[in-house]
Amino acid sequence: MHVIVVGAGIIGLSTAWHLRRLGAGVTIIDPAPGQGATHAAAGMLAPAAEVVWGQSPLYPLMRASAQMYPSFAAEVASAAGADFGLTDSGTLVCAGDRADLQALRQLRTAQTAAGFTTELITGSRARELEPALSPSVAGAVRIPDDQSIDPRRVTTALLSVVSATTVRRQVTRLIRRGGITVGVGFSDGDELTADQVIITAGAEADSITGMPALPLRKVWGDVLRLRAPAALTPLLHGTVRGLVNGRPVYIVARDDGELVLGASSREDGREGTDAGAVHRLLQDGQRLVPGILDCEITDITTRARPGSPDDLPIVGRIDDGCLVSTGYFRHGILLAPLGGRLGAELATGVSPDWLPAGGLDSVSPGRFSAEPHSAEPSADGSSAVSSVLHPTTLHRSTS
Ligand code: GLY
Repeated sequence: MHVIVVGAGIIGLSTAWHLRRLGAGVTIIDPAPGQGATHAAAGMLAPAAEVVWGQSPLYPLMRASAQMYPSFAAEVASAAGADFGLTDSGTLVCAGDRADLQALRQLRTAQTAAGFTTELITGSRARELEPALSPSVAGAVRIPDDQSIDPRRVTTALLSVVSATTVRRQVTRLIRRGGITVGVGFSDGDELTADQVIITAGAEADSITGMPALPLRKVWGDVLRLRAPAALTPLLHGTVRGLVNGRPVYIVARDDGELVLGASSREDGREGTDAGAVHRLLQDGQRLVPGILDCEITDITTRARPGSPDDLPIVGRIDDGCLVSTGYFRHGILLAPLGGRLGAELATGVSPDWLPAGGLDSVSPGRFSAEPHSAEPSADGSSAVSSVLHPTTLHRSTS
């Protein structure tokens, strides 16, 4: 079997990795591999810290994928000779003041209800663990099991394993015969055919002609990379997240001394870096860790997260020759091992019986429809999902 994977972010590359493990031939197509949302991402593998109210189908997926990371990282490292920078130094979710602490206490109730083990600690105890924390931090939730990776190292490692089959071009359309996708086309008329096509193009997944409209929205994030002066290194030992005046902020500390400060969440449609968002990140970051303002800014990257209406991924069949795997929103890095394995298995006809109960239904593209799912092709040759997505879910956010 030969599979085309359109999009070489962490989801596409993980999908390609798993396809190769299943014995499929793979061609990955992306004009700029690894340069999309993955290039901005901080790399937290923090299922408990990502819990928000009302997303219960997401928690088992996050937990399952976090558990897959150590073996995924070890297997890729052994094949690529390059690692992911995986660390397991945990997360402290800090409260900027007493009102933020009250919000953290409520969030901890949701984390506990979701089955995650967390510990509420005082500001003094938090400062014993991370001496760079501000004296004003009013308390913290400690999550000792959280991990992190460096997403840029992940894409480098995965690309080195699959690069021989990477095509640096922009796919513009699906090629369909009898309502079934048989390949992809380019703007100059060139075509590539395959047994299966998987669209892993993030927020651009439905901009390819022939794809059904998906209820994706672009949630822009501005992310800073910093380096502390030698006298302050290491500034932090693990990930510090927090709430400052109700606004979320995080700082991920890497073993090599890099600090990643993020991230804004904007749906204003502005592709460029937002000065106000950067200002707020630095302001909120320094409220938790004052030493942030002594660091050098080495990089600012702005990219769009691919959001879905219920914040769950969109993974499943478009037609008998094409699948989609997108909508990972804030969780693309954490969910990459799970999403990659799931997409690869669906494409090759393997039953993903390891998925947590309800997992496949919770990510199905057809879940946005009020109508029963139908696999019948429509008159124009497109099939299945395009005809069942409910019209009210098809808008793109312009706010
Ligand atoms: N997962 C972190 C973010 O999306 O900013």
